[in-house]
Amino acid sequence: MHFRLFSLIPPSVLSFLLAWYLIPFAKADYWAVNSPTTGVEWVNGQTNLLSWTKGLLDGIDEFDVEMQRLSVAGLTYIAHNVPASMSSLNVYLQNVPAADDYYVMFVNSSHGILYASSPSFAIANTSNGSTTTPASGVPTVTISGAPNPTDLFATTFAGSSSGGTGWRAVQDSSLQIMAVLSAMAMCVLGGVLTVL
Ligand SMILES: *[C@@H]1O[C@H](CO)[C@@H](O)[C@H](O)[C@H]1NC(C)=O
Ligand SMILES: *[C@@H]1O[C@H](CO)[C@@H](O)[C@H](O)[C@H]1NC(C)=O
Ligand SMILES: *[C@@H]1O[C@H](CO)[C@@H](O)[C@H](O)[C@H]1NC(C)=O
Repeated sequence: MHFRLFSLIPPSVLSFLLAWYLIPFAKADYWAVNSPTTGVEWVNGQTNLLSWTKGLLDGIDEFDVEMQRLSVAGLTYIAHNVPASMSSLNVYLQNVPAADDYYVMFVNSSHGILYASSPSFAIANTSNGSTTTPASGVPTVTISGAPNPTDLFATTFAGSSSGGTGWRAVQDSSLQIMAVLSAMAMCVLGGVLTVL
């Protein structure tokens, strides 16, 4: 029965989906997103906490942070060339559409590599009590409006040897396609498991 489900999808598409789903997380040894996580809200008009713990010896010295939604196309660039020595950032939100399917990705956007992503979390206009507490002594990035693939990164840290933005934008849209396909692959796999 589960074969029938898979046979609805052309094998080339399926292997593409599976390959994208399996590859991205191969890069980082350890990378936990501590905040935001499921059940918390980031709130518009407030400073919210983004924090993570990554492996010390993974050889990743800097990375980019992006945010997107599962259901809507578009990417918000949060920070570019974040040094590995950092483990948190404050994110001030302005007029970001309220929804519960946001997630944050840690990537190398020049190479289209996804190191880690947060679980999906909510962005709301008003706090429901499950908000995050900003960290002290870390930079605050301001994000406003809906995700937009043509925006530049909100913050670029020093020490950058980045390429042109055109190249980066191309890479990011493929990352986004990859994330959507990953979500689709998860649905397909989930469906298969349910059928089994
Ligand atoms: C606040 O909102 C989040 C996201 O929608 C939800 O998961 C959480 O349970 C809510 N918390 C409370 C206390 O209502
Ligand atoms: C992306 O990876 C390249 C090659 O590994 C590295 O030189 C560059 O610093 C990385 N950039 C970021 C922002 O992670
Ligand atoms: C959040 O606020 C914005 C701007 O004031 C408004 O357009 C939007 O409808 C609000 N969303 C919700 C879910 O209340």
